[in-house]
Amino acid sequence: MKIFLDTANIESIKHWNNKGVLDGVTTNPTLLRKEGGNVKKMIQEICSIVSPGDVSIEVTEIEKDKVYTQAKEIAAISDNVVVKIPCHEDYYPVIKKLTEEGIKINVTLVFTLIQSLFMCKVGVKYISPFIGRLDDIDSPGVELIHDLRLMVDQYGFTKTKILAASIRHVKHFHDVLIAGADVATLPTAVLEKAVKHPLTDQGIAIFMEDWKELGIKQFP
Ligand code: E4P
Repeated sequence: MKIFLDTANIESIKHWNNKGVLDGVTTNPTLLRKEGGNVKKMIQEICSIVSPGDVSIEVTEIEKDKVYTQAKEIAAISDNVVVKIPCHEDYYPVIKKLTEEGIKINVTLVFTLIQSLFMCKVGVKYISPFIGRLDDIDSPGVELIHDLRLMVDQYGFTKTKILAASIRHVKHFHDVLIAGADVATLPTAVLEKAVKHPLTDQGIAIFMEDWKELGIKQFP
């Protein structure tokens, strides 16, 4: 399973990339807005930090011809850019054409199995079901990941990876891991919590204390 960071914050990306646990990054207009500054420069820097890992960048045009043109321009920023396009029926032909042209697409704002089926048939690289936003409307988000895993395997949609998005807490991370997501994209706060355990810290402290008590000057 791959771990992506769901942020456009350069420092966080560098921090987690240096730990060797990062396989890629996802962004969206909201995350870019949080950081501000020169967006294109920021994207280029993110791409170079996590290369060859995938970096998802979302289109910001609405009209479908413009979405197509912008998607090509975004894809040209770097070899490891994946273009995020919302899973709206208006964009189906655009998504199909871009995929046929070899542009890597991450279909975003996915909320149902049927939406996912259409995108698997097109052969997009990633499908991003939004777990947290489904939970927000009292629809069990993690169930969609289970169903998707079943569908992808049952029908042999080998080109498409399941990217669990809108993960809000460590339990979501744990649950999508069990459900068989190919990728989980995590907000920095969730990844920070996920790697920590008080018993690990406590255990290290006890072992160090006991070792000191032994009074050995050099080891081994
Ligand atoms: C990632 O691709 C999504 O844009 C992101 O996970 C959305 O998360 P949110 O629902 O917490 O905004």
